[in-house]
Amino acid sequence: MRVIVRGALALALTTSLLAPAAPANAKPKPYCELHKCIALTFDDGPWPYTPALLDTLKKHKAKATFFVLGRKVESRADMMKRMVDEGHEIGNHTWDHPDLTKLTDEEILSEISSTQQVIQDVAGITPTFMRPPNGATNTRVGSLMKSFGLPQILWTGSTLDWQARNTKVIRDRTLKYAKRNAVILLHDIVPETVTAMSTVVDTLTKKGYKLVTVSTLLGDRELKPGEAWPKPEKKK
Ligand code: NI
Repeated sequence: MRVIVRGALALALTTSLLAPAAPANAKPKPYCELHKCIALTFDDGPWPYTPALLDTLKKHKAKATFFVLGRKVESRADMMKRMVDEGHEIGNHTWDHPDLTKLTDEEILSEISSTQQVIQDVAGITPTFMRPPNGATNTRVGSLMKSFGLPQILWTGSTLDWQARNTKVIRDRTLKYAKRNAVILLHDIVPETVTAMSTVVDTLTKKGYKLVTVSTLLGDRELKPGEAWPKPEKKK
């Protein structure tokens, strides 16, 4: 017997006969299991240099994470909205950048809650993690962050760009730390960093890296509230 089926029907029949049935609840693999990902993170803004950085990221369809200071957010609503609209992620970096380990519990809570509030008011989103200024944290800070439900995001590579203030040095250090699943610490308040990112983003993209937000980098991995991640590289 010969059955002739044509066009779309034939294709549908062939496909349904040949393709192994996917389990109904099959979950797609996290993006960064399929791709070489890097999370570039920019702290201490937003600042007047931030829009130029957003332009560079946009040009390469790159995403980043901004750990912003509450006190700088209110007067720069446009930049905050642009970050959200263009798919970047925003984290809480406190109101005024103090060493949290030296503050009272009450002061720490105020630093974090005022910053959550102003970000919510201005950008319409609530950060789901924070970064302690200078990475200074301890058990007490950790347990207070737990009460906010906020994991603490550290880094795998710190460029010390604020100290270097040199475009070439910042570029080379960023590229040195650029490995799969790296979280790289930079600052959008450093103009040389913003300049360096033009070459860095272009180079990493050409090397096949995907520049993603911290959340995308984490994929399926759920951090516990208060947990500090990733562990910084040991100083050599
Ligand atoms: Ni900072």
